[in-house]
Amino acid sequence: MKNKNVLVAYFSRTGENYNVGKISKGNTHIIAEMIAEETGGKLFQIEPVNPYPDEYNACVDIAKTEKENKSRPVIKGDIAVEKYDVIYIGYPNWWGDMPMPVYTFIEKHDWQGKTVIPFCTHEGSGLSDTENKIKKACDGATVLNGLAIRGTTAQKSQEQARKTTKGWLANHSR
Ligand SMILES: Cc1cc2nc3c(=O)[nH]c(=O)nc-3n(C[C@H](O)[C@H](O)[C@H](O)COP(=O)(O)O)c2cc1C
Repeated sequence: MKNKNVLVAYFSRTGENYNVGKISKGNTHIIAEMIAEETGGKLFQIEPVNPYPDEYNACVDIAKTEKENKSRPVIKGDIAVEKYDVIYIGYPNWWGDMPMPVYTFIEKHDWQGKTVIPFCTHEGSGLSDTENKIKKACDGATVLNGLAIRGTTAQKSQEQARKTTKGWLANHSR
């Protein structure tokens, strides 16, 4: 990935979450920072204009409805993906899918000729089918194999998380 322009775009939520209590930095955010540090990439947070509730169950309910309705929540700001060669896209696994604001972000851009690399945090479901969903949504991009890492590991065992992340990065930058 040397000499490439790298972007690390991610969605991540703070507040009460599964198995980690109330957090002030989201699990995916932690991994996104590690990837940006290792690759020299630019960080961009995908944030909905209307934030999700801090309360876990309330958030789970909203996320379920949004997925069922294929919602495209309005997001804050944007970044010119078109200027980058390699785009890491990070997200928590929500109901076996990406949070709907990630689709809002993807659908705003032209992915032709880009290299897209997914990474997700989860609590048991891994990436689910999100690599394929990204292949479909990022039309014209080459999508590499994604990283799946437990949110609990990202939050509470950061040295382990860093080791896993670095190993995965080394695999696709060879
Ligand atoms: C709305 C919602 C739905 C979730 N659905 C799943 C799921 O289907 N499978 C899973 O393994 N984890 C699920 N989780 C757990 C998150 O993927 C996990 O806590 C993740 O690390 C959160 O990342 P974040 O702190 O960056 O938002 C869900 C969490 C939330 C809030």
